[in-house]
Amino acid sequence: MPLPTTIDGFHRAFALVQPEGLVGYINGGASEGLTVGRNTDAWQGISVRPRMLATAGAVDTSVTLLGQPEAHPIMIAPMGFQELLHPGGGRLVAQAAAATQTLYCHSTFASAGFAELESVDGLHWWFQLYAFADWGFTLALVDRAIAAGAGAIVLTVDLATLGLRQRDVDSGFTLRGKQVVPCLAEAGAPDPRLAPMWASLHHDLTWDSLAEIVAHSTVPVVVKGLLRGDDALLAVEHGASGIIVSNHGGRQLDTALPTAYALPEIVEAVNGTASVMVDSGIRSGLDVVKAIALGADAAFIGRPVQWGLGLAGAEGVQRVMSLLLDDFTRSLVLVGARSVSRLDRSIVAMPSHAAFRN
Ligand code: GLV
Repeated sequence: MPLPTTIDGFHRAFALVQPEGLVGYINGGASEGLTVGRNTDAWQGISVRPRMLATAGAVDTSVTLLGQPEAHPIMIAPMGFQELLHPGGGRLVAQAAAATQTLYCHSTFASAGFAELESVDGLHWWFQLYAFADWGFTLALVDRAIAAGAGAIVLTVDLATLGLRQRDVDSGFTLRGKQVVPCLAEAGAPDPRLAPMWASLHHDLTWDSLAEIVAHSTVPVVVKGLLRGDDALLAVEHGASGIIVSNHGGRQLDTALPTAYALPEIVEAVNGTASVMVDSGIRSGLDVVKAIALGADAAFIGRPVQWGLGLAGAEGVQRVMSLLLDDFTRSLVLVGARSVSRLDRSIVAMPSHAAFRN
């Protein structure tokens, strides 16, 4: 079967070939799934104000993230359980990331362990951390990730409890609780199977927990899951080097603010004191151009990577990344900004309903 030629084509083909329960788990959101749709609508609803005759010559997609040079600003978001989508899925995503010079954020619950990541040549990766009630183990996990080469620790803070995944309730979909989670096994968890580990997640994190992780970590710490400027300022005050504006792909709290609308407030609040990144609903290279014009340093792609993996393994992920990167490059040229640093706020026009403030 030839691979789809659009991201939407991957979306549709994925839903045709994978079991309904799994499709619901990957694509579903919290409660009625309103934020899932609003996320994508919000990016698409931003208009572009292209400049003409502004730049000439070669396109330069390179960026610097947390002090490290990267080939481009489109990153793979942390997502667990890739084995469900393709045998060897955890390793295949990392391989596809390396092949497309994409920075990969590896989930605590990913299907590949640290040792497998270490064997992927040329891979740049960060580690997404879910904290556990056993704080000593949480810090051991941070240490193991850094020893394996993680360039940053990304602490997810929007899972004080799991959102209501209504599609999973309706379909009866459950994860295989007896499977061993590779990173947790390698970090020395006494019982690294999914069910006991999921049950022992830390649900009472505070800003002091962030400060403790920052004090312990020898690499930058990024906070993932913020939607407010005041929270972003607190994150910076407690030592975060970066912020990921995220509503967890609409999977946690329905009607949470679309990230395209939360981003400007956070950029303004942080005012250059930390890197600002964004995820949730980004489906094209043009969306990434808009995110950067609004002040983001990079954008994360989630579900499209899962669609690529579920359809065609590493080749599918590579194709998804190529489609996004081609669109990003083309969009840079068309908006009149042939390097990422030339994107600015004047390139985009927000719809009037985007001015959400309380
Ligand atoms: C876990 O983080 C999920 O969104 O399912």
